[in-house]
Amino acid sequence: MKIILLGPPGAGKGTQAEVLCQEFNIPHISTGNILREAINAGTELGKKAKSLMDEGILVSDEVIVGVVVDRIAQKDCESGFLFDGYPRTIPQAKALDINSVEINLVIEIEVSDDVIINRMSGRRVHLSSGRNYHIDFNPPKTADVDDLTGEALMQREDDKPETVKDRLEVYRTQTLPLIDFYSERALKGDLNYLKISGVGSPTEVSNLILEKIKNG
Ligand code: AP5
Repeated sequence: MKIILLGPPGAGKGTQAEVLCQEFNIPHISTGNILREAINAGTELGKKAKSLMDEGILVSDEVIVGVVVDRIAQKDCESGFLFDGYPRTIPQAKALDINSVEINLVIEIEVSDDVIINRMSGRRVHLSSGRNYHIDFNPPKTADVDDLTGEALMQREDDKPETVKDRLEVYRTQTLPLIDFYSERALKGDLNYLKISGVGSPTEVSNLILEKIKNG
């Protein structure tokens, strides 16, 4: 199973990715997490990405496509994977065709801007695993600490309200065209396209997604 999760920043892609990857036993490929790990490790990729990410601007297609092509060549991706935050532009989607990657399912998660801004301000992340929490809606067992490792949680630099507004604008101009791109492919029967409301508790949204997948 090869899945793409589409949706604006803060729609809950990372949160739902954890559930879906467990359900289908496939790796979670989040380009945002890969870039944050690279920044943390101080690699060349991290140095290229840091200032762009802090401002909510997309990293170049050329760099991201290279990262993704390398990642999906790894053994754990042989029987599928879930993309979270990729593709984000039409050239990134076309790069999948060029590399003969056939997507089976695209899930679009819809959430309004005001809900997103509220979610981002309460988000806390565990940097090395990418696990996401929310101080009110999905709190860790102990405040500011990751449930599995006991390590400290952090607030993302790009979750400041003014940067979130810029990220939403970038989503509208550069990523939204992917909705038509993949909807047209669904009409041709090339893949399955599901549109889901991301409003409700994380568990309610997961149940809705799993039910829709089961019913086709
Ligand atoms: P990335 O890390 O991909 O960020 P994003 O797409 O903007 O998405 P987020 O991670 O912010 O949100 P999400 O939808 O995963 O929501 P989450 O589950 O965390 O990208 C960051 C940057 O990296 C980009 O700006 C760009 O610079 C660069 N980049 C990455 N990929 C790139 C690419 N392909 N090309 C170029 N550049 C790229 O949920 C958000 C919060 O809400 C959490 O606190 C969560 O606990 C909470 N929450 C989730 N679901 C619910 C719910 N149902 N109810 C209440 N709260 C909820």
